[in-house]
Amino acid sequence: MRKLIRGGRVLDPASGLDDLQDVLIEGNRISAIGPGESMESKLDSSVQIIEAQGMWVLPGLIDLHTHLREPGEEYKETIFTGSQAAAAGGFTSICCMPNTKQVNDNSAVTDLILRRAAEADLVRVFPVGAISQGLKGEVLAEYAELKEAGAVAVSDDGQAVMNGLLMRRALEYAKVFDLPVISHAEDRHLAADGVMNEGAVSARLGLKEIPSAAEDIMVFRDCSLAALTDGRLHIAHVSTEGAVELIRQFKARGARVSAEATPHHFTLTDEALESFDTSLKVNPPLRSAADVRAIQNGLTDGTIDAIATDHAPHSSIEKDVEFDYAAFGMVGLETAVPLTLRLVEQGILTPLQAVSKLTSEPARIIGLDLGRLSPRLPADVTIIDPGRKVTIDVKLFRSKSRNSPFHGWEVQGKTVTVLRDGKVIFKDQ
Ligand code: DOR
Ligand code: ZN
Repeated sequence: MRKLIRGGRVLDPASGLDDLQDVLIEGNRISAIGPGESMESKLDSSVQIIEAQGMWVLPGLIDLHTHLREPGEEYKETIFTGSQAAAAGGFTSICCMPNTKQVNDNSAVTDLILRRAAEADLVRVFPVGAISQGLKGEVLAEYAELKEAGAVAVSDDGQAVMNGLLMRRALEYAKVFDLPVISHAEDRHLAADGVMNEGAVSARLGLKEIPSAAEDIMVFRDCSLAALTDGRLHIAHVSTEGAVELIRQFKARGARVSAEATPHHFTLTDEALESFDTSLKVNPPLRSAADVRAIQNGLTDGTIDAIATDHAPHSSIEKDVEFDYAAFGMVGLETAVPLTLRLVEQGILTPLQAVSKLTSEPARIIGLDLGRLSPRLPADVTIIDPGRKVTIDVKLFRSKSRNSPFHGWEVQGKTVTVLRDGKVIFKDQ
């Protein structure tokens, strides 16, 4: 079966291509990319045409940071519904965090995730194993076993590793298997029972505070340990100006450090919490305008390599409660594309830069030969209409959960068609 994606603006950051071209797919692979004329000799009536005039044709998007809630909290999200949400958001690959119940700290859980993902047959699901057994921060998980089962990284996301020696050993042990260690950088004693960023807004609202220092200190510790061990460190969901500056400095010194920022951290400030909308309660918390500017600058200059959603589904049981008691997290898979396009509109990122942070950069960080458009590679392709105006409506989400503060936002950019392995896994009606 052959498919031709015709007449779109093909953006492939890995090769620097940004041009009106056609993409020919044969079976599950890309077979050619080039100007329309170059395709004519290859066409016959059996080729299925996908018209893409006015659209952007991109490598399938890759999310480094998704919380699927299976096994254990299937009422929030399953591997199937999370995969549907991912595809609808333009993603063809997602990395799922291990803080499920069972924790993904062993091959049985990794196997289960991969089996369920194969049954769903939508996006590629790459499991992230735990740094420590049970995310308890006491004993390392078995990375050989996790890697063998298919884990692409290790993280105790949701729970910071408070023991510096354990983190050092994690970087050393993961290095043996060339696995990145993803740090949820938070000093839990400093964060204590805080629910929002510490600053003028928290003083006004009277909510308990999480200082920026809780993140900065741990970013410094983990970057120092990466430099010490020459291990591969990836900082998840960067939210502070201090963290951006530290990552910049350690990268300049040659430490093997990468970083991601979420759409909510580069879009919203803590001022939004005046509404007391619990879907704005995330960890790390939404920060000040200066922090948001620093994250945007970090994205522009490459200090922050990738954009990742931290898609964290929760049900109304966890969210329709007082702010202090609500769970941390918001869903993000189905809003990442339009929120990223706002950065392009504001001149913060070029189109190629924006696409790189959702494709080639996450692929590089996790070590996948995906995230670029090239003959012989799997035909993972995302087609978006960058100009389409959309009002975000949580009722239309494929995700089981609705905890998004972007409900009602008028944005631009809509995922139109998504192919994984040449198969259409999402089509806008
Ligand atoms: O807001 C968050 N939600 N931050 C995390 O680190 C964990 C996540 C979750 O699992 O709900
Ligand atoms: Zn986290």
